[in-house]
Amino acid sequence: MELKLSASMLASDLSNIAKEIKRCEDAGIEWLHIDVMDGVFVDNITYGNNVVAAIRDKSDIFFDTHLMVTDPTKLIPLFAKAGSDMLTIHIESNGDTAENLKAIRANNMKAGLSVKPGTPIEKVYPYLPLCDMILVMTVEPGYGGQGFIPHCADKVKALRDYCNEKGIEIDIQVDGGINADTADIVKKAGANVLVAGTYLFKAEDMRKAAELIR
Ligand code: DX5
Ligand code: ZN
Repeated sequence: MELKLSASMLASDLSNIAKEIKRCEDAGIEWLHIDVMDGVFVDNITYGNNVVAAIRDKSDIFFDTHLMVTDPTKLIPLFAKAGSDMLTIHIESNGDTAENLKAIRANNMKAGLSVKPGTPIEKVYPYLPLCDMILVMTVEPGYGGQGFIPHCADKVKALRDYCNEKGIEIDIQVDGGINADTADIVKKAGANVLVAGTYLFKAEDMRKAAELIR
């Protein structure tokens, strides 16, 4: 699977988002990771579909939208309209996961399904045919800048092995605490889409930091 980096906007200078996105593009980063938090599923509130629509006008970069919300169902058409290219929901959210994944694809977006560190990876197996990507969280969702949880790499490996065995080609994304060192661990385990916030945005040279992750 092709290796892709997804820069988490959460660690960017939010007062200059358009400029920050340009910095990602110039650094050769493929995707922009947009963390949507509702203050219920996780402690914080970040940004919503209106912000996605505003930045859609400024950039053609792939919008990888990570919904950390309790009730994703009603939001699916709103993020499609705003210009998200991919919408990832949590298996721990409310609603019918299969129906939500179908609705994401019906709204012409790629569908992603995410698991928190404490959720067994086997839970996603029944949904694989409905997904373009599985996001294995490598920190507890809710905050940027946390430390990578090592046992999550075992979940990535179990998922990649299962997919290979079944002949399923799927993107496996990791999110949380990714830097040049932890990137090595998750790549070896089988992840091919690496989210990084702090490591990329706080680096002196974003292009060099991206190269170190690759
Ligand atoms: C955490 C978010 C992550 C976070 C990653 O809830 O889903 O995307 O921004 O940030 P870093 O790379 O700083 O751990
Ligand atoms: Zn995220």
